[in-house]
Amino acid sequence: MPEISRQHWSAARYAETAHFVPALGAPVLELLAPSPGERILDLGCGDGVLTEKIVAAGAIVVAVDAGPDMVAAARTRGLDARVMDGQRLTFAGEFDAVLSNAALHWMRDQQAVLEGVHRALKPGGRFVAEMGGHNNTAAIIVALSAVLARRGLDAHRLNPWYFPSAGAYHKKLEAAGFTVEEIAIIPRPTTLPTGIEAWLDTFAEDFFAPLPPPDRSPAHAEITDLLRPVLMDETGTWIADYVRLRFRATRPG
Ligand code: BEZ
Repeated sequence: MPEISRQHWSAARYAETAHFVPALGAPVLELLAPSPGERILDLGCGDGVLTEKIVAAGAIVVAVDAGPDMVAAARTRGLDARVMDGQRLTFAGEFDAVLSNAALHWMRDQQAVLEGVHRALKPGGRFVAEMGGHNNTAAIIVALSAVLARRGLDAHRLNPWYFPSAGAYHKKLEAAGFTVEEIAIIPRPTTLPTGIEAWLDTFAEDFFAPLPPPDRSPAHAEITDLLRPVLMDETGTWIADYVRLRFRATRPG
């Protein structure tokens, strides 16, 4: 597993091929239940689409993301967005809640993330998040592995994602000092509006980085061929095998 993902985040590409990510954030927002006047940290805010909804609930939101282009896009929405690595949060005792949607699975050093979130919260503050869970995009990962193995590459060494089970993450949260109120794995088949090849471009750069650029497109095509009978439905729609891990935990008061 690489220490740091090589994925490049382009706000324009994200808006075109990954707009479903914040759009499907309603359940985690509901679990957060923000109140007017609360100070909330949005960890891994992307282009700020979900952040805007927290602001609309009357909360005062600081949004952070490691991708400068995403932060620039969030700022154009008038948000207080800052470039910051979730593994190096610099806040102390200032938030009523930390929200994270579809971002934690990109962070390798989970202990640093959880320590940073714990430190950022006021005593009694809550940490509410959704991330990829155990078995997330399993078919895609198997297809990636098979096609890269044909080229002598080990996909598991290139995999930037961390998709824990509920039991494993429950332990990590407790070890970091949180009380876990609820945690669950939720299968969520997810329509890919622009298909699997655009999805691979948007989310899976790490796997293809070792290949010479001319070899990447044929590898994408082989993966697509392997996945078509599994992930494409009879109407020609690509539906990925997403599995979420959603939880609410608190920093004891
Ligand atoms: C997800 O949000 O579940 C996800 C993101 C990137 C790659 C795979 C899955």
